[in-house]
Amino acid sequence: MAWEHTARAGAHPAGMRRPRGGQWAVAARGLVKTFGDHRAVNGLDLYVRPGTVCGLLGPNGAGKTTTIRLLTTLLRPDAGSAQIFGYDVVKEAAAVRRLIAVTGQYATVDESLTAAENLTIFARLLGLDRAEARRRTAQLLEEFGLAEAAHRPLKHFSGGMRRRLDLAAGLIVPPPVIFLDEPTTGLDPRTRRQVWDTIRRLVQEGTTVVLTTQYLEEADALADRIAVIDHGRVVAQGTPAELKASVGRATLRVRLQDPRQVETARRVLEAVLDVRVPAAAPVPQEAGEVTAPLADAGRLLDVLAALRQAGVDLTGITVQEPTLDEVFFALTGRGVNETPAEEPAAQPAGRRPAAVAQPSGGESV
Ligand SMILES: Nc1ncnc2c1ncn2[C@@H]1O[C@H](COP(=O)(O)OP(=O)(O)OP(=O)(O)O)[C@@H](O)[C@H]1O
Ligand SMILES: [Mg+2]
Repeated sequence: MAWEHTARAGAHPAGMRRPRGGQWAVAARGLVKTFGDHRAVNGLDLYVRPGTVCGLLGPNGAGKTTTIRLLTTLLRPDAGSAQIFGYDVVKEAAAVRRLIAVTGQYATVDESLTAAENLTIFARLLGLDRAEARRRTAQLLEEFGLAEAAHRPLKHFSGGMRRRLDLAAGLIVPPPVIFLDEPTTGLDPRTRRQVWDTIRRLVQEGTTVVLTTQYLEEADALADRIAVIDHGRVVAQGTPAELKASVGRATLRVRLQDPRQVETARRVLEAVLDVRVPAAAPVPQEAGEVTAPLADAGRLLDVLAALRQAGVDLTGITVQEPTLDEVFFALTGRGVNETPAEEPAAQPAGRRPAAVAQPSGGESV
């Protein structure tokens, strides 16, 4: 049953392992996991410092969930090794399980029971006595905005409510390390912020967080460091600022009065700025907008003059620092919700940067 696995992977207050000394909460070297003839994780290295948030970003199918399953002892690696606070995920799996909680990309709670019953059962399984379990349940239901729905059976819950309950279940006993696989997918913006606050509070209290997300602004807001994963490997890592700096340039965005002039404007920008302006922008844009990399802000006036000369009237113009979306696109050649090409070799040439951002300060994430 689903909740058995969360409980098994959850922190155990009675037998809670002390984190072993050492500087890494998570250290993974050369992890490999193959399904059939597909290498879902393909030589992945990851280092996470205690008390920080590490964001794992990558397109669909990049290997994020598989990586989390390897790090949380739910899958066994085919090669490579990983430790959680110095405990090996294969040889010392039981010790690792006492140090971690994991909440899945899918709710890991029992359908037929109510929210309160689910949490209380988890709490009891984790060793809390009856009164404590009830107190903690009430607290978590309140914190995740589920107090009113506490006594409804789960089958009547919305996706967002299930997700919150799943997260609450992982937090009954705040563990040294928590793995959150898309903790806020499907949540409304207000609840998402609430979850962010909860994550920040956990980190303040010393928990280390590894999270995957589809929302780049979430990684930007929460993560101390980000690892971009593609085809089962870390292709770039660093602080959000370092990753943005690795893209290295601002973006000029012009909004056209007449959306039919997009092609003309695109050609003008290419000529004046001496850059390639893709017909499809890295970030979704409104009709009638064109974006181009702007290495030298001094060229802005030239651009405006050339557009006027070409008879293109503008309704707006902005210069933006790089966003994580652009970093992501530059590194993977895809948006965060696109599936990878069948073969890495089928990637269009030139999209994948030759040099991968490896910011100074070593390999830590
Ligand atoms: N149990 C499994 N059996 C076979 N193939 C699998 C299994 N789990 C994952 N895969 C494959 O491994 C690859 C990586 O999957 P994974 O779920 O780790 O990706 P992800 O980065 O979490 O993607 P998403 O963003 O969609 O959640 C995919 O091609 C997936 O189809
Ligand atoms: Mg996944």
